[in-house]
Amino acid sequence: MTRDVWDRLLAEARRAHTGSAALSEFCAFPDDLAAQDVTAFPIAAAELMAREAGFAPGPNPFRDAFVAAGPLAMWRETYKGTDIGEDFMARFGCYCLIGAGGAFASQKMWAWVVYMPADLHYRWHHHPAEEAYYVIDGTAEFFRYGEAPERLGAKTVSVHRSNQPHAMTTHEAPVMAYVVWRNGFETPPVLTE
Ligand SMILES: [Fe+2]
Repeated sequence: MTRDVWDRLLAEARRAHTGSAALSEFCAFPDDLAAQDVTAFPIAAAELMAREAGFAPGPNPFRDAFVAAGPLAMWRETYKGTDIGEDFMARFGCYCLIGAGGAFASQKMWAWVVYMPADLHYRWHHHPAEEAYYVIDGTAEFFRYGEAPERLGAKTVSVHRSNQPHAMTTHEAPVMAYVVWRNGFETPPVLTE
């Protein structure tokens, strides 16, 4: 039963990924996926995402599959122990689908969901991994160092170069994004000073 939830989510991820020219160009959907066990680890933002009322009305199968798998997921606390603040720790949500702590392993691509409710700022951060954000629902303002800020909505993509600082702000709407890395898996993100 648990595996069914993950398999449905993976199918939606594959469908969205292969259906997006920008994502497919960034990284092919991996062909080396292997199932792995997940230890559920809920955080406060998991509940916020489950009850989020600000997404677009009607079904969105990819979004709804990430919500459905939320109670089974190992939610991340990437910035615990930093000075990022209690409000961010209480409201920022992320869990892995493909990669360490996720329901699937791959040597070629890692993938997460990132959820932010309205009116939240994700500070400048960076990592060696090359990264693409694909907006599933909602809207966010994306900041990439050296480029103009850009408001992105559903089915649009923001690509971040290796170690290019980036940040994200939600305004009146929440955002849910599918985030993929194509390399640099061994080094987690750090806040940019
Ligand atoms: Fe990033």
